[in-house]
Amino acid sequence: MTQRRPLIAANWKMNGSVELVEQASASLNSLAVSAAEILICPPVIFLSQFPKSDKYKLGGQNVSSERSGAFTGEISADMLRAAGAEYVIIGHSERRALFAETDAVVLAKTKQAISAKLTPIVCFGETLIERQQEKTMQVLAQHLDAVYAAHPELLRHSVIAYEPVWAIGTGETATPEQAQQVHAFIRSHLSQYDKEAALQVRIIYGGSVNAENCAALFAQPDIDGGLVGGASLKPAEFAAICLSAQD
Ligand code: 13P
Repeated sequence: MTQRRPLIAANWKMNGSVELVEQASASLNSLAVSAAEILICPPVIFLSQFPKSDKYKLGGQNVSSERSGAFTGEISADMLRAAGAEYVIIGHSERRALFAETDAVVLAKTKQAISAKLTPIVCFGETLIERQQEKTMQVLAQHLDAVYAAHPELLRHSVIAYEPVWAIGTGETATPEQAQQVHAFIRSHLSQYDKEAALQVRIIYGGSVNAENCAALFAQPDIDGGLVGGASLKPAEFAAICLSAQD
C-alpha cells in the first residue's frame, strides 16, 4: 500500500500583509499536525518574513521560466529557494487565464523549478463549459500530456493540483465524489508514463476548500490534501483544515 503524506497548501494569491504573516506563523506553530505537511505560498515579498519553523514549509506562487538574465520583474527558481521556498505553484488557472500561460510555459517553469530543487505544484482543471460539455477528462489528459508525456521523469518530483476552474473562489466545491473521480482519472492517466511515480505522486484538490468541506474531500482515496485559497487567509480556519488532515 502506498503511503502518500497529505499536503495542505495555502495559496494566498495577491493577499496578505506583514500582520497576516505573523498571525499565520503563530497559529501554525501552535498546531500539532504530524500526519500532514503544511505549506504556505504567500506573495513572494513575504517569504523571507516568515520565521523558520518545522511546522510549515514555504512556497512561491509562480516562477520564471528562465534561469536568469534580462527579464525585468521576474523571479527565478534559485531566488525563490534562497528566500526560503521549497515548493512553487505552477500553471494556476489564474496564471493561465489572466497571464496567458501556455502548456509550453508551464513545462518550462516546471523544469526550472525542479532543477533548482523546488517541488512544483502543477495545476490542472477544466472550465465550467468544458465540464458541461463532458470534456473534463479529455481536457485534463491533453494538459497533463503537454507537461509529462515527453518528460515522465518530472513526475517523480511533482505534486499535481486538480483545481476545477468553476470551483475557484466561487464557493462552489466539487463534491468529494466528483473530485475523487477526477483524481483517480489523473492518477491512472499518469500511470502510462510511470506506474510507480503515478502511485506515489500527491494529487491535491483546490476550489473553495473550507473547514466544513475539507474532511470529506481529504477522506477520498486519491485526494492527498488541498490547495486552499480564500480560507487560507483566515488563520483559525486554515488551522482547522490542517487539523482535519490529521484524522
Ligand atoms: P479558493 O479556495 O478561494 O476557491 O481558491 C482556490 C485556489 O485557486 C487555490 O489555488
